[in-house]
Amino acid sequence: MQKVFGQSERESVNLKKKNKLAAALLEWYAANKRELPWRQAPSPYHVWISEIMLQQTRVEAVKEYYRRFLKRLPDIKSLSEVDEDELLKLWQGLGYYNRARNLKKAAVILAEECDSVFPEEFEEIMKLPGIGAYTAGAIASIAFGKCVPAVDGNVYRIYTRLYGDGEDIGKASHQKRIREEITKLVPEECPGDFNQALMDLGATVCLPNGEPLCAECPLFFMC
Ligand code: ADE
Repeated sequence: MQKVFGQSERESVNLKKKNKLAAALLEWYAANKRELPWRQAPSPYHVWISEIMLQQTRVEAVKEYYRRFLKRLPDIKSLSEVDEDELLKLWQGLGYYNRARNLKKAAVILAEECDSVFPEEFEEIMKLPGIGAYTAGAIASIAFGKCVPAVDGNVYRIYTRLYGDGEDIGKASHQKRIREEITKLVPEECPGDFNQALMDLGATVCLPNGEPLCAECPLFFMC
């Protein structure tokens, strides 16, 4: 007898046919994703603050700063009104203080021009101070389910190990090509999970320094 699929099974079967990489990666992520404070309630504000903190700082170091920051500044409005001395105190130890100054600048713009509502579209998010393509991609995909990639050094490394042809990943033309290829792979059904799965794979399996843990890798079959 023919099996009758529900919608989510149909989506998963379609995804497997279309995109083996995404299917394997997402299955792995469902079982292995890291429990991180900013994943508990991924509002645009939460994702934004965490992504800015994570730009130059390790996940383990960010956790406590993130909790403290959100306790004192729980939303765009409170961030837009905080005085700089207090903001920099909350940031003390994370370094790269322009990240904090840009957060406040962006919050003031959002409070004054957008009624403290975070924009949904990648291009609009990119216009805010301190936000580049990676961070805009992370926010748009994780908080708004937009089908855009979040491509950083981790993703270049994973991609090059998978499909590497010996090209230098420092080269802008090569990075552009990888970005275009990854863009085609982001599944419409769950772009945020896809991008976070790549982040977790790069941090825990396809390691930057030393030997990658290939025996644990969901993409080993195609690498
Ligand atoms: N590194 C950068 N963004 C991240 C995120 N959202 N989760 C884990 N690691 C990250």
